Amino acid sequence: MIIVTGGAGFIGSNFILDWLAQSDEPVVNLDKLTYAGNLQNLEYLKNDRRHTFVRGDICDLELTSKLLATHRPRAVINFAAESHVDRSIHSPGEFIQTNIVGTFHLLQSALNYWSHLDRPAKCEFRFLHISTDEVYGTLGADDPAFTEATAYQPNSSYSASKAASDHLVRAFHHTHGLPVLTSNCSNNYGPHHFPEKLIPLVIHNALAGKPLPIYGDGRQIRDWLYVGDHCRALRRILDRGAPGQSYNVGGGNEKTNLEVVNTLCATLDELQPRDDGQPYKSLIAFVKDRLGHDRRYAVDASKLARELGWSPVETFETGIRKTVQWYLNNQDWVRNVTSGEYQKWIQAQYASEDL
Ligand code: NAD
Ligand code: DAU
Repeated sequence: MIIVTGGAGFIGSNFILDWLAQSDEPVVNLDKLTYAGNLQNLEYLKNDRRHTFVRGDICDLELTSKLLATHRPRAVINFAAESHVDRSIHSPGEFIQTNIVGTFHLLQSALNYWSHLDRPAKCEFRFLHISTDEVYGTLGADDPAFTEATAYQPNSSYSASKAASDHLVRAFHHTHGLPVLTSNCSNNYGPHHFPEKLIPLVIHNALAGKPLPIYGDGRQIRDWLYVGDHCRALRRILDRGAPGQSYNVGGGNEKTNLEVVNTLCATLDELQPRDDGQPYKSLIAFVKDRLGHDRRYAVDASKLARELGWSPVETFETGIRKTVQWYLNNQDWVRNVTSGEYQKWIQAQYASEDL
């Protein structure tokens, strides 16, 4: 069996659903259920005995040690994190705690568990750490895409905390031989994406007839990957990746934020035209820029393609269409996650704008 942390969040829940659709290998899912964690994401598995949910914190060394000793997993897959850059600008403390201290504690308990395994189990064990392309910093318009050899230059408290956790993961391999793997992925999108992030926020606001906030000039570039393709890459890295190695994961879909928002608007115009006949893009509103906003990310995922034979299945167009359709079909989910704490965040984040 495997232990997944942060499995009630966006990518973690997609990963668990994919995993159990492909195999019967049980999953223990450790999640603190912060504002970003949502058991509704896993409702489909409610009566499925292959999935065990444990509410808890990766910082809790005693709990993670107990889970490892009880369930004796062949792998730990660490998704748990504070993941929103804008929140890290306002309140970085939680990012330091979960992303750095939490990963450190999880590594400590994994090392202790692993070092007492018998030889075959020791060889088989993997600690897969899910990281981000943001650790590499920002690119100029003509710079080559990030490779695994690109120097780390994180620019936000979020990316700095992820970079710190990546370094700890690397150090536990180098010093103790813990069989770790690290993946550095670009921007994901798809079902269960919390509507504080650009794509789900824009879909949500558009359907509510609210302004679509674009930071600065909207010409920042991200490399978008459908979440299902990320999950497939992670399974491949877990199966075939070489311990101690990092693998970049990316969609090869560099788009400006304006292009992304225009594509979303055009897709919504087609799938759910507005009652007043106006195009959704008439709701676009330019707002003040994010502090320290990285200009461009681009990921060179050729190592993953070459060594492990992975490439994405979805194009940006097919992935966006699936995503918009999912949000249209799951307005209950959106209603549930956009009440309470969500309202407070949106009011604070966009307060100075006339939105
Ligand atoms: P998310 O914010 O949607 O989910 C994070 C999950 O972790 C939530 O379920 C939350 O409850 C849980 N969690 C938070 N703190 C915890 C703690 N201390 N102990 C246990 N659980 C805790 O995040 P996501 O977008 O699904 O990202 C998952 C991972 O992938 C993160 O490590 C993130 O850095 C990385 N990543 C995300 C993207 C992206 O585009 N979303 C891209 C590359 C990498
Ligand atoms: O690159 C991988 C990273 O992608 C992950 O590590 C992070 O966890 C994930 O949140 C994501 O970070 P970004 O900051 O790139 O994603 P976000 O959706 O917040 O923003 C995407 C772009 O859109 C970015 O340039 C900021 C811009 N933006 C965002 C919001 C929320 C806007 O223009 N308006 C908005 O309201």
